[in-house]
Amino acid sequence: MDTLVEFKHITKRFPGIIANNDISLKIEKGEIFAILGENGAGKSTLMSMLFGMYLPDAGEIHVRGKLERISSPLVANNLNIGMVHQHFKLVENQTITENIIMGIEPVKRKLGLFPYVDLETANRKVKEISEAYHLEVNPTDVIQDLPVSTRQRVEILKMLYRNAEILIFDEPTAVLTPQEIESLLHIIQNLRDNGKTIILITHKLDEIKKISDRCAVLCKGQLVGVLPVATTSTNEMSALMVGHEISDTIVKTEYRAGEEVLKVENLQVISNQNVTLVDNVSFSVHRGEILAIAGVAGNGQVEIADAIAGLTPLAQGSIMLGGHDISHENVRKRIEGGIAYIPEDRHSVGLILDLSLRENLCLKQYYQQPYCKQNGILDFPNMEKLGSQLISDFDIRCSSGDDTIVRSMSGGNQQKAIIAREIQLNAKLLIFVQPTRGLDVGAIEAIHQRINALRSEGKAILLISLELDEVMKLADTILVMYNGRIQTIRKASELTKLQVGEYMMGVHVEKK
Ligand SMILES: Nc1ncnc2c1ncn2[C@@H]1O[C@H](COP(=O)(O)OP(=O)(O)O)[C@@H](O)[C@H]1O
Ligand SMILES: [Mg+2]
Repeated sequence: MDTLVEFKHITKRFPGIIANNDISLKIEKGEIFAILGENGAGKSTLMSMLFGMYLPDAGEIHVRGKLERISSPLVANNLNIGMVHQHFKLVENQTITENIIMGIEPVKRKLGLFPYVDLETANRKVKEISEAYHLEVNPTDVIQDLPVSTRQRVEILKMLYRNAEILIFDEPTAVLTPQEIESLLHIIQNLRDNGKTIILITHKLDEIKKISDRCAVLCKGQLVGVLPVATTSTNEMSALMVGHEISDTIVKTEYRAGEEVLKVENLQVISNQNVTLVDNVSFSVHRGEILAIAGVAGNGQVEIADAIAGLTPLAQGSIMLGGHDISHENVRKRIEGGIAYIPEDRHSVGLILDLSLRENLCLKQYYQQPYCKQNGILDFPNMEKLGSQLISDFDIRCSSGDDTIVRSMSGGNQQKAIIAREIQLNAKLLIFVQPTRGLDVGAIEAIHQRINALRSEGKAILLISLELDEVMKLADTILVMYNGRIQTIRKASELTKLQVGEYMMGVHVEKK
């Protein structure tokens, strides 16, 4: 075989942490090479070095048999290496083509003198590439109007436009719906069939199983193995990844309905564009109950959660919490009334990325004693106490304790921080929106255990999830949304996964 990239004894340290420890690895031409590992295992760091975002502290990277010093993404580009990052890097108010050609704009001269960007040629070339690789896009569309899956295509086209031969995907499916994932996996296979070499960072084992040829497993900065995918079971992979086998079950006590905590009646939410997003939705959640709202993305689930939390106004209907009408109360009142909220978007709603972990953990209480003195000044020692307590209780991994800037933490640990903050509020009702999105199996398991434990403590839990397995595993009651309406609401024990899937697709409509 033809070795395209070789990592030799690569070590990379960040303050307080060894992100990659003496890693040696070969990637062959024309393969789909997966990199598997828990959050914080060092996957992104390793690949960021191949893309020139960091230089290793020790070790060498060889590309096509030659030692290279990849000191910037520009150098990586010249070596035909491209990367799609976990968080896309596109300019919102520019077109697809403008984003793709950025930095290498084709220039023409008017009258042989005045230079201008030749958008016409660029648009044509983008169209050609998009057709050649079945990445349908309209080159003149503006990024801000596009769904996530199309933005991802733009990132892929950006690499292809630069003649990338080695394509690195950093958790590309974390942001996609199940249907979009299928189509991305096809795209990736198609790229491989066209001679590209693919590096796929993911922790979804089934994706690895479906399309990868080999898979490297990282655990806490160490390479623990490189496996041929065809002959390795997903159980073996996950065992290597977390250091022990994952049990995919939780021990659930029998559900006995406690008193009603949340009562939503005839809820209607209307968007700014006057579209009805949630239409006449009624349900209740009781103590000790997990009510899961299932549905394909964008069928009104998140708007229900936002309306309850006070982030979206109701057009009609009412929301009662513990017998009090909170329909028109402000967010802070609702938090104080006993609502904890784990939002879908960790970065823009869940956390303030440039504040410290300590400050983020106090976000919902900083204005109260003991975190704030009577004169309104923050009480740092007490904030620190809370910070270190939660870090140890929830096993939040961070490089400089409660001083760590949240932006530098891995996604899984950011999510742990949000969950820690919300759980210690000791609320009556906890709303979890996509709590395990983008997390690895170990972290997912830990969160499922937490949710189950909260249920046992008698909390009322509203879970909104696109993952059907998660819904089936945790829910006592399942509510399925389709087009802003309730398709069905039933005891989980009365529904199979297949049936829930059918309701999600709008296959049958329940007669009321
Ligand atoms: N720029 C950075 N500064 C400080 N620490 C970092 C930085 N990038 C990553 N880390 C730390 O290095 C470790 C590995 O991170 P990363 O490579 O992002 O993991 P993965 O991609 O496997 O989830 C984590 O503990 C993370 O917090
Ligand atoms: Mg990563």
